[in-house]
Amino acid sequence: MEELYLGVETSCDDTSCAIYSPERGVVLHRTAAQLDHERYGGVVPEIASRLHMRTLLPLYESVMDETGAELHLLSGIGVTNGPGLTGSLLVGLSFAKALAYGSGVPLVGIHHLEGHILANALEEKFVAPCVVLVVSGGHTQLIHVERIGSYRFLGGTRDDAAGEAFDKIGKLLGLPFPGGPAVEREAKNGDPAAFPFPRGLIRSGECDFSFSGLKTAVRLSVEKLGRLSPRIVSDVAASAQEAIVHVLVEKSVLAAKRAGAVRFYIAGGVAANGRLRELMEKRLSGMDVTVSWPLSEYCTDNAAMIACAAFHHIRAGRRDGLGLNTFPRGELVSWA
Ligand code: KG4
Ligand code: ZN
Repeated sequence: MEELYLGVETSCDDTSCAIYSPERGVVLHRTAAQLDHERYGGVVPEIASRLHMRTLLPLYESVMDETGAELHLLSGIGVTNGPGLTGSLLVGLSFAKALAYGSGVPLVGIHHLEGHILANALEEKFVAPCVVLVVSGGHTQLIHVERIGSYRFLGGTRDDAAGEAFDKIGKLLGLPFPGGPAVEREAKNGDPAAFPFPRGLIRSGECDFSFSGLKTAVRLSVEKLGRLSPRIVSDVAASAQEAIVHVLVEKSVLAAKRAGAVRFYIAGGVAANGRLRELMEKRLSGMDVTVSWPLSEYCTDNAAMIACAAFHHIRAGRRDGLGLNTFPRGELVSWA
């Protein structure tokens, strides 16, 4: 009988369920975005957990019905138990525990960043050792992956995450939330050299990042400009995107050199950015480093990556008990 794994992801504002098969890959993935946050220009934790409560059960039922998967026949259930918003995480974790308790199916808690890394294993073989840039709304980290389950932190942001910078800049420009895709759309019509925005820590010689100076520089420019014409919005978006992407790429080059990597992956919501992909490919291929990224639907938060991670944990004999808890913050630790 075919092995099937269920993934549940509710760490922030997306409610997601998926079924993963080690043979066929993603059988079905479904994510419900919470549009209620748009009018607040950011995620409101209380609203996020209430919407997860309303959405998760029908979403799970539709995924099980459509795939014909049967709960008691699953090989494992993976659930994101951190880092993230505690209220949101608790909804997913309690739900996954109830499923595991009622069916006897093994349960594993998955670190959200490991999920993002393994989004790269959904469509093609994940080749390690490698270096992964995890770049999302909550994280900007360079991680050396010796093999699946063995992780070494190479560097990360000292303040804002890159996605957070995109979101804040989008808000300053009056663009819809989340800012990343909106800034990218605007940037297509703009001049990336129009504003000389700062490239934080570009010459630090370390694999670290800082995006708070950029955010302030954009705010000061926008305040000075007063009324923003569509042309100016596009130019600011293009210049800010260029500043973020330039730093992400140069620090990735440094990390790949330090780790002696020939394989590099990007992961997380910002990995959906076309300019980041283009520049990363250009710089790393010049060093004979192969770079890849997941399909865009697996860059942003999704449960397919969590189900895939669950397969790797359970295959290695790992499982968690019903005492499993959530954690709001915490590094990705090795387990293999
Ligand atoms: O991985 P994700 O869905 O959630 C977190 O774990 O944080 O990432 C969401 C982040 C948001 O900040 C969003 O603006 C950013 O990813 N993002 C993008 C793009 N698509 C999503 N940033 C730049 N360009 C994009 N195309
Ligand atoms: Zn994420």
